[in-house]
Amino acid sequence: MKAVLYIHGRGGSPGEAEHYKALFPGCFVTGLDYQSATPWDAGKEIKEAVMKLKKQYGGITLIANSIGAFFALHSGADSLTDKAYFISPVIDMEKLILGMMLQAGVTEDELKEKGTVITKSGEILSWDYLTYVRENPVNWSGPAEILYGSGDNLTDIETVKAFANKINAKLTVMEGGEHWFHTQEQMAFLDKWIINNQDKEKTKMNEIIKAMEERRSIRKFRPDMPAKEQIDEILNAGLYAANGRGMQAAIAIAVTNKEQRDKLADINRRIGGWAEGFDPFYGAPVIIIVLADKSCPTYIYDGSLMMGNLMLAAHSLGLGSIWIHRAKEEFEMPEYKAMLKELGIEGEWEGIGHCALGFIDGDMPAAAGRKDGRIYRID
Ligand SMILES: Cc1cc2nc3c(=O)[nH]c(=O)nc-3n(C[C@H](O)[C@H](O)[C@H](O)COP(=O)(O)O)c2cc1C
Repeated sequence: MKAVLYIHGRGGSPGEAEHYKALFPGCFVTGLDYQSATPWDAGKEIKEAVMKLKKQYGGITLIANSIGAFFALHSGADSLTDKAYFISPVIDMEKLILGMMLQAGVTEDELKEKGTVITKSGEILSWDYLTYVRENPVNWSGPAEILYGSGDNLTDIETVKAFANKINAKLTVMEGGEHWFHTQEQMAFLDKWIINNQDKEKTKMNEIIKAMEERRSIRKFRPDMPAKEQIDEILNAGLYAANGRGMQAAIAIAVTNKEQRDKLADINRRIGGWAEGFDPFYGAPVIIIVLADKSCPTYIYDGSLMMGNLMLAAHSLGLGSIWIHRAKEEFEMPEYKAMLKELGIEGEWEGIGHCALGFIDGDMPAAAGRKDGRIYRID
């Protein structure tokens, strides 16, 4: 499951994140209640929030608005996020501060000497802030999209264009839009901007990798039987798994007979130590048993890869599946050894797993966050 972190602008609130839930279905969407008002501290808060989410979720998308975008651009969280959506980002803060100073009649020397000056309109002018923005120009190195209203009174079009160019972001301009996207028309434009971008991301993604990331173990199946053609297609995909020395040491037995399926479920339940009434196959009408030839040195790996192919093929055909264990114990039982003989399967076979298969009853579960630190590199 992926997470979306929303950074609000001035006068906004983390609750605005609610709006984005419908635009990112299946994602955890949350708003950051940041407390700081300086780019160095708010940036730190943003980076910490991203790091925390990264521990629990499979990827992070950042949506940041106005001054929230300005803070995000100082957070250094670019390497941790998959994608950033900047809405009316404040880019040239130096120009804004100098403008406020001019309006308030405060000179640079005066600000430097006093440190902070509160203007009549209540704005706090700070020498540290001005120095910081001069020394730390905004930057972002990850994939980013920028939305800008042509009527933005805080940032001019040339500044936003140059910045988009610099960070390699795609700039979308809403003609007649304002700095604050808030009218029905502006919000519809914003929503469409996000949806279009998401569609593009999805179509860009390789279908196989997408299936690998989206497949989940299903624990509630409908009782109706998938079509024989679908089951055959899945079985066939299993036959094409990589296998040690090309020995093709794994075989599959597809059980669709309800009586046999229920009997197997009961034996599996007893091996697992569950009470009567529990179905370890979660109601799946098809059980594909994978076994592997013990005389082949790589038989466990071969059988496991066949299981992987079966589950991915099922997912790509819109069916649910799950690996159910304890096939080894089942096929150590004389009854099931005899069953193999009856099917004309000779030799020594080990049960590797069951691929329980069927239509998903309910929603596809979300993936758990990926554990950190599982990839090492030797460059
Ligand atoms: C070798 C193996 C044995 C498994 N055995 C069972 C099982 O007996 N019962 C079950 O409910 N899930 C079983 N699973 C499913 C895992 O619990 C599941 O793959 C894991 O929680 C990750 O979830 P995901 O498949 O949705 O990514 C098994 C998975 C593997 C790889």
